[in-house]
Amino acid sequence: MCGIIGYIGEKNASPILIQGLRKLEYRGYDSAGVAIQDGDTIARVRSVGKIENLAARAATEKLPGTVGIAHTRWATHGGVTEENAHPHTDQSESLVLVHNGIVENYREIKEQLGSEHIYNSETDSEILAHLIGEHIKESDGKLTEESFRLAVECALKEVRGTYGLVVMHKDVPDYLIVARMGSPLVIGVGTDGYYIASDATPMLAYTKKVIFLEDGEIACVSKTDMQTFNLKDECVVKCVEEIEWNQEQAEKQGYEDFMLKEIHDQPTVFEDAIRGRFNVEEGTAHLGGLNMTEEEMHSVKRIVLIACGTASYASMVGKYAFERLAGIPTEVDVASEFRYRDPIIDKHTLVFGVSQSGETADTLAALREAKRKGAFVRGIVNVVGSTIARETDGGTYIHAGPELAVASTKAYTNMVAILLLYALQFGRLKRVALATGERMLHALLEIPQKMNEILDTAEQIKTIAKVYANYDHMFFIGRGINYPVALEGSIKLKEISYIHSEAYPGGELKHGPMALLSEDFPVFGIMTKDQLYDKMRSNIEEVRARKAPVILIASQGDDTAKELGEHVMYTPKTMELLQPLLNTVILQLFSYYVAKELGRDVDRPRNLAKSVTVE
Ligand code: F6R
Repeated sequence: MCGIIGYIGEKNASPILIQGLRKLEYRGYDSAGVAIQDGDTIARVRSVGKIENLAARAATEKLPGTVGIAHTRWATHGGVTEENAHPHTDQSESLVLVHNGIVENYREIKEQLGSEHIYNSETDSEILAHLIGEHIKESDGKLTEESFRLAVECALKEVRGTYGLVVMHKDVPDYLIVARMGSPLVIGVGTDGYYIASDATPMLAYTKKVIFLEDGEIACVSKTDMQTFNLKDECVVKCVEEIEWNQEQAEKQGYEDFMLKEIHDQPTVFEDAIRGRFNVEEGTAHLGGLNMTEEEMHSVKRIVLIACGTASYASMVGKYAFERLAGIPTEVDVASEFRYRDPIIDKHTLVFGVSQSGETADTLAALREAKRKGAFVRGIVNVVGSTIARETDGGTYIHAGPELAVASTKAYTNMVAILLLYALQFGRLKRVALATGERMLHALLEIPQKMNEILDTAEQIKTIAKVYANYDHMFFIGRGINYPVALEGSIKLKEISYIHSEAYPGGELKHGPMALLSEDFPVFGIMTKDQLYDKMRSNIEEVRARKAPVILIASQGDDTAKELGEHVMYTPKTMELLQPLLNTVILQLFSYYVAKELGRDVDRPRNLAKSVTVE
């Protein structure tokens, strides 16, 4: 996601900031920009695409000055354009800021600021700059460090959403205001000045002494000093910490691998996926990217979800949700099959292409085919500006942030989140009652906290995973909404541990696969309390009768599960349709620890690529 770097000190800022942006590249971005203060002038350069484009332009413009801020942007509000790239200015162009996060109430703020405000971008961040500028206008007399800080504080009190923010002003030279709410910021304490960044990676070359800003804190940084306040304007004493990480460890934020980091990212990025996309009072979702009128939505008689691999298992959860909530027949088509099947598609079909990369060749080709046949074609994609995002007539970004490990984890959960929101949006138009919609939204809001509960049990999952690392085969079984969960558990295990695994609906084992079961063939059952719980129990009993070791995921409080499984991992309860969001996190951790036990390279498993751009 977006990255911030700022510098204030004795050295020339421009090379430090450009180099800092390069170090932040791993977070993913689509444009970048830099602003340098020199006395009472601020020069700003922005550019779409690679940091090298920006570096070339910054070199041409020279950009003298020892104070500056810079940013890599990953588009959320508004397309990938130079105008939308940070830094942004206020109406007077005296204030310049970089911002990570999302201002949820940006529309209200824009309305409140009135029509005299002219914006140059489509971003919520520019509106925030204007809001701070407006508060500065209200403060009497010459702008001082104190009145500048108070203006920023006042503006931030009006903001709903998240921010990691660095602001500077022409009239207050050599002074940066840094604020955090939900979007991390670190301040590096160097011998020549201060470094500010969204993570420690860009400052490691200069200092290992850092101060971590907490939510609701505002730091005022000069060349030689910094002071921190809270939003009540009280002074806060901060500790300087020494970090031990090297560059690579810093990118992984202390986790051993990107996969583990991305598994742990899930509570946060899940919030990013759903934020601002629903209305609890109306009990519905508002995914504007759908680009369909209510009449067009009513005309949809069939939904087809096209995807590959993990994205197709996320789509299967979507199928259950669309059918249950909206009563619309829904199919999941594996893209590589769909494109050659001459599928029956017409103008009453809504096709979603579901893809993390947005570049998967089969998914892309299938979507083109669906478009040719006259369907509504929309994307559910992670990578902004990717080919699928550009070629579909609308859709929704899942906001999972860059996923660097080959095995998909956080993109899966965010795909499921968006599919659930779409199903609710269609469902409310058709047959879902307000109370049910409200209940589902409340349940979605509780998911991050429940994911954290699971992440807290990682050590227990690790202990169990070690027991199963030396088997050659494994089955995953589930029923109903837990069948796609079994499929996802199975693909995760095989791709990173190289243990052979298959997934089946629980009722299917006795139709053939059961012949393989023995003491050497464990079965992983997903047996949470849902409509098919009793059926699933019977299937597990059948497995036990064949002496296969049983591992279970069971709902918290289901003590009887211990009678059935050698090992049981407990999951928090939620609405049945949302249960895959939690159960899958356990399976991700299980596969991860099995693979680690076997010494596999979990981030780069053999024979696989992150983005499959060939057929
Ligand atoms: C499995 C995995 C793959 C991808 C598949 C589709 O962990 O990552 O199965 O899900 O290759 O990729 P995208 O989502 O980029 O279209």
